[in-house]
Amino acid sequence: MKIDIVSIFPSYFDVVELSLLGKAAKSKLVEVTVHDLRDATTDVHKSVDDTPYGGGAGMVMSPEPWGTMLDGLLQEDSWLIVPSPAGQLFSQSLAVEFSAAPHLVFACGRYEGIDQRVMDHYRTTHRVLEVSVGDYVLNGGEVAVLAMMEATVRLLPGFMGNPESLVEESHEKGLLEYPSYTKPRTWRGLDVPEVLLSGNHDAIRVWREEQSLERTRQVRPDLLED
Ligand code: ADE
Repeated sequence: MKIDIVSIFPSYFDVVELSLLGKAAKSKLVEVTVHDLRDATTDVHKSVDDTPYGGGAGMVMSPEPWGTMLDGLLQEDSWLIVPSPAGQLFSQSLAVEFSAAPHLVFACGRYEGIDQRVMDHYRTTHRVLEVSVGDYVLNGGEVAVLAMMEATVRLLPGFMGNPESLVEESHEKGLLEYPSYTKPRTWRGLDVPEVLLSGNHDAIRVWREEQSLERTRQVRPDLLED
């Protein structure tokens, strides 16, 4: 998979080298390239933003540098992903969809976001998704892109040493994952649940399903509504 990221803070993505994503890059599962939006500006100040039409606080990112940059990056089968607190909510199922795409282009907005015409224009030729990583506001899309990329790349075939662990984890079946324990059997007076020591795999599976359901009911009842 190929991933291009456009940002006015390209060094934000230096961590990619250090993280799990770096492992995927080294093993050629994914090729990540980071671009500085200011390289697509034409004025001496390398400006990327302007005041909003209609008034209001903050600045809006201008369409011109985005158009120049994205025209150069988007290929026929590319998906354009624009992180935004006003987008659809990111989820495990969206990560699964992303992991099947041949080429993702992430466009990191700052300030009050990117001029809406950029998304509207590319939507006529490409799959364009505006995506939020949660109901809170970040200063820009960079952190959101790191989260979405990590959730996506770890799903690529060959990334996980043990692909079984992908099946068991939170959100994969629409529920939160059951609690996990390791040695020692007793720690600060707290025991590992007896059933996990029983060797009875059916009983362990049933217990884990119950725990998963109970945890979801307690912490995320909204997930059970559908
Ligand atoms: N940019 C600012 N806030 C964001 C959010 N919650 N999700 C994605 N991108 C953002």
